[in-house]
Amino acid sequence: MTEVIQIEQLVVTYRDTETRATRTVVDRLTFTVRPGEVFGFLGPNGAGKTSTMNVLLGFTHAASGSASIFGVDVRQPIARQRIGYLPEMTYYYKFLTAEELLRAYGRIFGLDDGEIRRRTDELLALVELEAARRRLIRTYSKGMQQRLGLAQALLNQPDLLILDEPTSGLDPLGRMKVREIILRQKAAGKTVFFSSHELGEVESVCDRVAILHRGELKALGPVGEIKHPADGNLEQAFLRLIGWPGAPKPASDAGPADHQPTAP
Ligand SMILES: Nc1ncnc2c1ncn2[C@@H]1O[C@H](COP(=O)(O)OP(=O)(O)O)[C@@H](O)[C@H]1O
Ligand SMILES: [Mg+2]
Repeated sequence: MTEVIQIEQLVVTYRDTETRATRTVVDRLTFTVRPGEVFGFLGPNGAGKTSTMNVLLGFTHAASGSASIFGVDVRQPIARQRIGYLPEMTYYYKFLTAEELLRAYGRIFGLDDGEIRRRTDELLALVELEAARRRLIRTYSKGMQQRLGLAQALLNQPDLLILDEPTSGLDPLGRMKVREIILRQKAAGKTVFFSSHELGEVESVCDRVAILHRGELKALGPVGEIKHPADGNLEQAFLRLIGWPGAPKPASDAGPADHQPTAP
């Protein structure tokens, strides 16, 4: 079976504009995302999550290593044919309504007007924006804008959704709604790859997670396997994995034998 995302020994570097020094922000990263999975790409701010996604999206090029989507190298634009993408910051034309925005995107995707109307009704119901569909986007709350971004990402019926921090800045209800939408995609057989720095809150939706810290993979696997019995939640597991001195101390003979990244 073709992996949905395959990343191997990926290195991303940036050059400092002043010093000209090269800084590695993603360091020999290797993992795969399987068909139908909800995969959480976790790590604190600056860990390298967006940089990795930017390679998948073709916005950034890898210094070395490789990445492919549905078996196609990401250097080929056709690799992105079957994906929907929600950027970390959504900047939409705020003088448009939700309906108008989706119509504009539908035309970019080459959908006919009937299809656009049908998909718009369906998606605005899914993201619970029906009542606000004719309101200007600039009157939307952050959560509503984020849900509209999700509707836009879903417009082309993608097989893979790439969401960069879809729940950041949302209140608990907004986060719950986003999680619900993610789970509905999974139920429809789609694959979801999303990033978050809120480690604790993603536990319930992810089949597997990768934890990134300073560009390096610290853990990979189902949440239940990464967490040690002494870890109350994934956040505590993360603190332990990065060797933070205040992390809960596990009993030496308890818990899974291997917390290290395993082969994907
Ligand atoms: N265009 C850029 N030029 C230089 N440095 C960058 C650029 N984009 C990101 N970085 C740096 O790369 C590191 C990883 O950033 P990023 O991938 O955005 O992390 P995350 O999404 O996990 O918060 C950070 O230290 C950030 O400052
Ligand atoms: Mg980011």
